[in-house]
Amino acid sequence: KTCMVDMVVAQPYGIYLPKKFEKIAEDIYNMKIRPDDVFMIAFPKAGGTWNQELLWQLSNGLDFEKGKENLFFRSPFLELTCLCGDAPAVPAMDDNEAMDRMMKIKQNSVQSVADMPSPRVIKTHLPLEMLPPNLLDTAKVVWVNRNVNDSVVSFYHHEKLLPVHGLTASFEEHAKLYMEGKTLYGSYWTFMQAMWKHKDHPNLKEIKYEDMKNDLKGTIRNTAKFLGKDFPEEKVDLLVEHLSFETFKNNPAVNMKPPKGSVPDEVRDQFNFIRKGQVGDWKNYFQGDFLEEWNKWIDNNNPDSAIPMKFE
Ligand code: A3P
Repeated sequence: KTCMVDMVVAQPYGIYLPKKFEKIAEDIYNMKIRPDDVFMIAFPKAGGTWNQELLWQLSNGLDFEKGKENLFFRSPFLELTCLCGDAPAVPAMDDNEAMDRMMKIKQNSVQSVADMPSPRVIKTHLPLEMLPPNLLDTAKVVWVNRNVNDSVVSFYHHEKLLPVHGLTASFEEHAKLYMEGKTLYGSYWTFMQAMWKHKDHPNLKEIKYEDMKNDLKGTIRNTAKFLGKDFPEEKVDLLVEHLSFETFKNNPAVNMKPPKGSVPDEVRDQFNFIRKGQVGDWKNYFQGDFLEEWNKWIDNNNPDSAIPMKFE
């Protein structure tokens, strides 16, 4: 159990979600897509927040001043309504006005996406099959991937640090639930296979977390091109700096913390959504027999590395 709410297995993809999802599944499937929408689709902990900021900046002419507003308000999280607890982890929200605004969005996140002016950069963890069928032919979609080992480690910390998720398990116990598809959003591989089917569609761009770490500027350039944007060198350099790990971690508009008062202050102080930001951190967590079992699970689910992945 990773979440203190009832869970449901949402069809057709067997995704494990809070029961409240049933109430919004149809609204999401039927939502109106605009041609200038950009969807950021990522399995949890793949670097979605990082990419949301990248896409928001590219879609908004690299507006660092406007970008000081909380990312939650600039780039909505489509299915937020159904997620755990009444007090989600939100970018450091210290003032009551922001918190009220946030709670209103949480009451009906799908409606608040519909009410947003264009251009919209919409975050979701849902695969394309659970989104409107005309999405890919109408708007641009960025699919963010991260290797499964670093993803599960990052997920573990996310669940552990956030008391509302109530995770008390050890890393191995958590990873076993992840293997069974019983952590939030279900099976990593089900999601990957659902997305992989669309990899050649011209409106879908895959971004690997590892490539972004390795060549941030190149990723910015490619992604801008994909979105039909072009920026002078010096502005791109500013974006590289803006998205660098240290700057990002110290940016209160993107580094999430549980709202003040929702958890003890010492927990809040230690909570860093932008945690370590490395490729290969998994080596500090997987050992011996468990690593063998884990690798077998990968081979069974991704035979011959059909979906390529970078572990280093
Ligand atoms: P770690 O827990 O491994 O540090 P998501 O936004 O999808 O939940 O992903 C969160 C992960 O992306 C975290 O991984 C976080 O540190 C990492 N991340 C966020 N911003 C980053 C940045 N600017 N550079 C590198 N990694 C970043």
